[in-house]
Amino acid sequence: DNIAKKRKMYEDFLTHISILKDMDPYERSKVADSLKTKTFSDEEVIIKEGEPGDTFYIIVDGSALAIKDKTVIKTYSKGDYFGELALLKNQPRAATVKAKDSCQVVYLDRKSFKRLLGPIEEILHRNVENYKKVLKELGLDTACIEGN
Ligand code: CMP
Repeated sequence: DNIAKKRKMYEDFLTHISILKDMDPYERSKVADSLKTKTFSDEEVIIKEGEPGDTFYIIVDGSALAIKDKTVIKTYSKGDYFGELALLKNQPRAATVKAKDSCQVVYLDRKSFKRLLGPIEEILHRNVENYKKVLKELGLDTACIEGN
């Protein structure tokens, strides 16, 4: 059926995502079941800075850019994730993320994110330290990640 097909399609993909590869295979298959997919075209805004956010994204194909104060703060390609910060910290989106060329993503809503990625929340939080470093190096405001 559909669920079996989807599980098969994403299970292997998810083992290649750095934050998910240490997860229990059963938990990872639950993530695979909950994923939805969407394709954005070149320059299309996936996340807008300052807006409320309820979605966590992983890139399946193509690339994207995170932008803050007109500065590119990160480039994303296959297997990279973004949009976790608003969900972890219950705050508005810290940056804008735009598709670069065509970009296919899989995504989870807030409820699935909390339920399924609970076991790796610590890892996600730890990675936020890198964001702070990047913003400091670029001379940008770090208020969006203070109090972490
Ligand atoms: P979120 O705040 O939900 O939406 C914007 C996303 O940009 C954010 O989650 C992170 O996933 C991502 N991002 C990439 N680099 C940074 C950074 N240096 N500071 C904050 N967010 C970043």
